[in-house]
Amino acid sequence: MVKRSKVARILALSVMATALIGFNASESRADAATGKKAFDSKKCGGCHYTTGPAREKTIADQLKKKGPELWYAGSKFQKEWLGAWLQNPKPIRPLAYNSLTKKNPGNHPKLAAGDAAGVTDYLMSLTSKDVAAGVIKAKKNLKGKLVFTKKMPCSGCHQYEMRKKVKGGLSGPSLVGAGKRLNPDWIYAYLKAPKAFKPVKMMPVFTGILSDKQMKDVSTFVANFK
Ligand code: HEC
Ligand code: HEC
Repeated sequence: MVKRSKVARILALSVMATALIGFNASESRADAATGKKAFDSKKCGGCHYTTGPAREKTIADQLKKKGPELWYAGSKFQKEWLGAWLQNPKPIRPLAYNSLTKKNPGNHPKLAAGDAAGVTDYLMSLTSKDVAAGVIKAKKNLKGKLVFTKKMPCSGCHQYEMRKKVKGGLSGPSLVGAGKRLNPDWIYAYLKAPKAFKPVKMMPVFTGILSDKQMKDVSTFVANFK
């Protein structure tokens, strides 16, 4: 008797759990749809495009863009970082977008918490098939550190923090805190196939220069930036 009621309880619990999972999935789909409405009504699409594949064919196409493409945002960013940044955006690129001289004005539009949650769900639903999941795990990586700081000019264009000091160049996005912002698997996918994401690039292409192993090492290293 005791046994049977235990079984019944476990069954009931698992039915409930399934129902809850089902409920959550449909809820986050609904949030993505609401978030898309907020994205449109706040005119985010005036500066960001959200459907892939990459559209830029020439430097002129790149210079016409008023903000980075977001069509693979769900593969690039970490959800928690995105939700917080949309409410309190701090400069990512030290310099203004598409400029090598002007400072980033730090005037990105802000969203209220409710809109930010919906827009986050919407942007996290935009993914790229070129990002394989579960390949790169953030951790210390001495070989990756050597690639980043010595063998390759990465640090000449990207800020990063080491022993509580921010160093590095200004022409690329800052990588301080990249471990909280970027999906480790995206970093590797981007180094491996930059053209899939940014066909007209202002970053050198490292395919053929770095081995696959070195790309994995340096991605592991960058993904560990606090
Ligand atoms: C006037 C143009 C403009 C508008 C409008 C705008 N953005 Fe942006 N957005 C930018 C620029 C420029 C950057 C790069 C900022 C930086 O590097 O600090 C950016 C960066 C971002 C990023 C990070 C992308 C990356 O690859 O680094 C996200 C996410 C984002 N915007 C979302 C939004 C959302 C959501 C809205 C609507 C509420 C919005 N933006 C409205 C210009 C704009
Ligand atoms: C000549 C300057 C330059 C060098 C050298 C360089 N980068 Fe970049 N990097 C850039 C620029 C510029 C971008 C932004 C491209 C864009 O958004 O159009 C970028 C983007 C990135 C991003 C994505 C950041 C983001 O938030 O979108 C990562 C990660 C990155 N680089 C890592 C590296 C690594 C690792 C190396 C060395 C193997 C390297 N970079 C070397 C200029 C450089």
